[in-house]
Amino acid sequence: MIKATVLIPAAGTGRRMGGSVRKQYLELCGKPILAHTLTLFEDHPLIENIYPIVSSDDISYCQEQIIDRYGFSKVQRIIAGGADRQASVRNGLDALAKDGFNQPQRPILIHDGARPLFDSQRLSALLEIIDKIGACIIGVPAKDTIKDVENNKIIGSPDRNRLWQAQTPQGFQYQLIRNAFDQADADGFVATDDASLLERLGCPVQVLEGDYRNIKVTTPEDILIAEALFGGST
Ligand code: C5P
Repeated sequence: MIKATVLIPAAGTGRRMGGSVRKQYLELCGKPILAHTLTLFEDHPLIENIYPIVSSDDISYCQEQIIDRYGFSKVQRIIAGGADRQASVRNGLDALAKDGFNQPQRPILIHDGARPLFDSQRLSALLEIIDKIGACIIGVPAKDTIKDVENNKIIGSPDRNRLWQAQTPQGFQYQLIRNAFDQADADGFVATDDASLLERLGCPVQVLEGDYRNIKVTTPEDILIAEALFGGST
């Protein structure tokens, strides 16, 4: 199987976290969140290289305090992020093009820097599906009933049995994700995950069931939850 490249968008401002330290650099069990996340891929044999994407102001901090301090050898280079997640991932894809990526079927995984609890044992299965059908994401069935709400009024209650929560990693063959981003840019389409950009073009995207531990550390209580989850596994 062709080894994969990973883009790690971690350029969010962490507004929902409050506080002065950006959330990706907050510590969980004594280690910054982003360092936990990078370790998942650094230690996996099917991952060849990693491109963290951080705010342009944080590039030297990230280099010194995360990459050098923990000795991540698969980190190719750090990329400056953009105004929203999609723009950050776009910068990552542009960096790959600049670095001469041209294998159309090469798997490109995109994983939120804020998800340090992904179970990397799932990576082989994810990569196998990407190899076969081109695109696959990790997700979990929705536990709650989800409402479509406008101005605090419910306008719809989609059938929960069909609803899944999209997580990351999301992985795509290089030519598919490049094309999807080019089309989205051309149409001014913006979404909150990467799979949406392929879905709108009618490209099949499979979901591989993950687990509920793979939370995105977003608000202050998530730190407590993540520490408890780490505590149970270390
Ligand atoms: O904003 P959201 O919660 O969807 O962020 C998911 C991931 O995308 C986080 O790891 C965050 O740091 C990253 N992000 C980014 N660039 C932005 C906004 C978010 O890389 N401008």
